[in-house]
Amino acid sequence: MKGKKMEIQVSASLLSADFSKLGEDLARVERAGADRFHIDVMDGHFVPNLTLGAGTVRSIRSLTDKSFDVHLMVDNPSRHFEAFAEAGADVLFIHVETCPHLEGDLKRIRSLGVEPGVTVNPGTPVSSLQCVAHAASHVLIMTVNPGFGGQSLIEEALPKLAEARRLFGDKAVLHVDGGVKGENAQRVREAGADILVAGSWIFGSDDLARAISELRSPSS
Ligand code: DX5
Ligand code: ZN
Repeated sequence: MKGKKMEIQVSASLLSADFSKLGEDLARVERAGADRFHIDVMDGHFVPNLTLGAGTVRSIRSLTDKSFDVHLMVDNPSRHFEAFAEAGADVLFIHVETCPHLEGDLKRIRSLGVEPGVTVNPGTPVSSLQCVAHAASHVLIMTVNPGFGGQSLIEEALPKLAEARRLFGDKAVLHVDGGVKGENAQRVREAGADILVAGSWIFGSDDLARAISELRSPSS
């Protein structure tokens, strides 16, 4: 990746899938061109909502070879690292706001054979990542306050991408999560994202392939 800009990737957030046919929805979105999958784990404490656990990740793991980017919106996330590693997570995102021992936690994730990722809420500055610039391979910039799909993107959070690039250089890939849709995708790409996470935009469309390609490049 060094020296050249990676192609924009689309990570489909399964939060907006129909959980009564999760496997089917995953396959449909993969056929439509999703590059990877974003899996939102919420505990009802750090965020108000509850979603799923490692058992669900394990049960869909064999359906695709694409990356599972697991976003842990939970208090005490380190309790769950082994379970999600064993379930087949490729990337584990932990929130700065939940990790007083951030560097050690990122190292532990790496030692489990999983790529470590770090996340900041809209109100948390990128400077909070200063001490882990060498330890994370992925950075997730939240452009909504986490907890629910279908919220509006907070434009003021986009300049944080340039700050993250200055801090991490090419050592980490930058994801943007929350409210990403066709109308704002160009601004998100231009702000410096490598990976666009989108849930309601993709699953709310009756043409999944078109919805995904509109995230990659402006619609003609
Ligand atoms: C929000 C989650 C997001 C969510 C994005 O807390 O972290 O990943 O699924 O959904 P949309 O794309 O609908 O904002
Ligand atoms: Zn997420």
